[in-house]
Amino acid sequence: MKIAVYPGSFDPITYGHLDVVARAAAVFDRVVLGVLLNPHKGAPIFPTDERVKVVREAIDEYCTAEVAGRIDVESFDGLTVEFCRHRGATFVVRGLRAISDFESELQMAHTNRKLAPEVDTVFFMTALEHSYLSSSLVKEIAAFGGDVTQMVPPAVSGRLAARSRGL
Ligand code: PNS
Repeated sequence: MKIAVYPGSFDPITYGHLDVVARAAAVFDRVVLGVLLNPHKGAPIFPTDERVKVVREAIDEYCTAEVAGRIDVESFDGLTVEFCRHRGATFVVRGLRAISDFESELQMAHTNRKLAPEVDTVFFMTALEHSYLSSSLVKEIAAFGGDVTQMVPPAVSGRLAARSRGL
C-alpha cells in the first residue's frame, strides 16, 4: 500500500491545499494530512486541534466520500520524516504554486531525503486558478473583513466570519 504524508500548517486550509490533497489521493492509496505548527510563521489563527477539525470538515465537503475515506487528518510534533515512519508513509506530498516556492521546497525535500532515504517527496503543481492563494493573504483579507469565500472552503470562511464578529 502506498501511503503519503502531506504536512503543513494549514492555517487555514485553502482551495489550493484541497486541490493538492485530492490529486494526491488519486495517486496514493492513503494520504495522511499532517497538521503542525511552523515555528517560522508565528502564532496560528486557529489552534492545532481546531485546524485538524476544520481540515477534516473541509475535506469531507470538497472530496467524494470514497476519496475522503482514504484521507486521514492528524496533528504531529517534530520531524516530518519521523511522522512518515510512524504512519508507514514512504512519500511526502507538497504543492508548488510558483517558481518562488521551489527553492525552499527543494531544500526541504533534499533535507528530508538525507534524514530518511526511504521517504521521497512528490510535488503537485497547484491548479492555475488557485496558484495565487496563500494562507497568509487569506488571514490578512479576513482580518480586514474582506470576502474570502472564493479562496477557502465554507468550513474556514464561516469560522473566520464568526471571529471577525467577535464570536
Ligand atoms: O505549510 P508550511 O508551513 O509551508 O509547511 C512547512 C512544513 C510543516 C512542511 C515544514 O516546516 C516541516 O516539515 N516541519 C516539520 C519539522 C521538520 O521536519 N523539519 C525539517 C524539514 S526540512
